[in-house]
Amino acid sequence: MRKKSKQTKKATSGAAMNRRKFMGTLAAAAGTTAVAGSLSPFAPSVNAETVHFAANTPGMGGAGPFRTECDIRDCDVEGEIPSNIDGAFYRVGPDWQYPPMAGNIPFDGEGHVSMFRIQNGHVDFKSRYPRTQRFKAQAAARKRLFGMYRNPFSDDPSVKGVSRGTANTHVVYHHGLLFSLKEDSPPVAMNPLTLDTVDDYYTFGGGLHSLTHTAHPKFDNATGEMISYGYEAKGLATDDVYIFSANAKGHITWETWIKVPYVGMIHDFAVSQKYIAFLILPMATNVERMKQGQVHFAWDSTLPTWFGVLERGGDGKDVRWFKGPERCATHVMGAFSDGNKIYVDMDMALKNQFPFFPNLHGEPFDPKAAAGTVHRLSVDLSDKTPRDYNMEELYPQTGALPRQDDRYQTIPYRYGFMPTSDPTKPINPRLGNVAFRPTNCYTMFDHATRKTSQFWIGDDSSLQECCFVPRHKGAGEGDGYLIGVATRMLEAGRSDLVIVDTQHMDDKPIATVRLPFRSYSQVHGWWVPGEDLPKV
Ligand SMILES: [Fe+2]
Repeated sequence: MRKKSKQTKKATSGAAMNRRKFMGTLAAAAGTTAVAGSLSPFAPSVNAETVHFAANTPGMGGAGPFRTECDIRDCDVEGEIPSNIDGAFYRVGPDWQYPPMAGNIPFDGEGHVSMFRIQNGHVDFKSRYPRTQRFKAQAAARKRLFGMYRNPFSDDPSVKGVSRGTANTHVVYHHGLLFSLKEDSPPVAMNPLTLDTVDDYYTFGGGLHSLTHTAHPKFDNATGEMISYGYEAKGLATDDVYIFSANAKGHITWETWIKVPYVGMIHDFAVSQKYIAFLILPMATNVERMKQGQVHFAWDSTLPTWFGVLERGGDGKDVRWFKGPERCATHVMGAFSDGNKIYVDMDMALKNQFPFFPNLHGEPFDPKAAAGTVHRLSVDLSDKTPRDYNMEELYPQTGALPRQDDRYQTIPYRYGFMPTSDPTKPINPRLGNVAFRPTNCYTMFDHATRKTSQFWIGDDSSLQECCFVPRHKGAGEGDGYLIGVATRMLEAGRSDLVIVDTQHMDDKPIATVRLPFRSYSQVHGWWVPGEDLPKV
């Protein structure tokens, strides 16, 4: 049986209650309490099919999905973890529960959350699938029931009304709950210590008035607020965006709505002390293609970008839109305002950065045009006439998944971080001809000097997204560690967690946590200081 927090009890809206009642029967079969090393036991369904993952299953690199929930007490650590590192590094990524529909994309796998709990120089590892409504329905049926990425037209009729959310994109922490997030659905709330799912459709006590919720909320560390939004908020392909702020206790205290110039992916957004900004990209939602069995998005190179700005706490009808050229930019490194100006730093490329989202007009995927670099977008809201936003490339290094010292979200900041690919670094000849140059560095960007420093993982490995960990409570901005997972390509993709000192980026990691397996690929991760975690 699930044990629910007070918040999650209050969170149950009428609609969610109906869904939960329906899912309750499935939960009884699929189990909601994770069992180390196995999926939960359940009764076999009729017409069960043999489960087999083809070698070309997307996102698996021919190695098969991970599909293993596990606990490791006292991981193998090479080097020494400073005793002042106390907290939990959470990460999430897609990990197929069942073989996907032919033609589906890696981003549609079920979310799998893992936690590295670091304390007193020791590391304990735990991984669990969030028990999404989708996961439980499929577990009960012993087969895939959901079709293509964000395409409800391709689903088995039996799951009509069941949340399609995979909770596979980002994991963040607020008011005592760990949220596993996918932008097409409300958060899935988990116990941050056990990784048990405590609410598969979290609505902030019924206050969330959107059918969706971004994977990239922002946090105002001065107030404890979580500022967030949902796009396609009133249903598939709707042009409504819902924006809200939840206070430190998880109560929604402000909400507003805006309409977007066209419907497309709004994967991330920017929040400063004064403003909220969205970049609308040509990654357009395409219902006609969905009805033909395709994925949710296609890149429409005829569309401009639009930079929309509204005031925090304001009315969505006052949003102002500024035009820009075709560009792809999915993640915000940091954002701040200065008077009536807002500045937003993003990794930005000329063209579609996702080879598995098709170009609508038949252009071939262009890896060079897809290479992102850090750009600064800005507008001056005191100028009543501008029609365009400003755009400046800050650095030449190419990469994706930029981050910052998260204590500086919403305020002026100096340091950013990003996994990058350095073409001057060698590739181990034993790897042969690699199709794509690996992401082999973490780069630290100093916006005050425009200088960079770089950690190189070596010639046989690649790096996933990193998180910043302060050296200690009260440490200066950027003074601490980068933490992230490395893939050992000469060891069948085995996974290591590396910890890098930001004061010595050109050194080897101060510690490497060696996992005895190849974990699934992470999309995003989050660091929670130990003092912020619930007490055991
Ligand atoms: Fe993201």
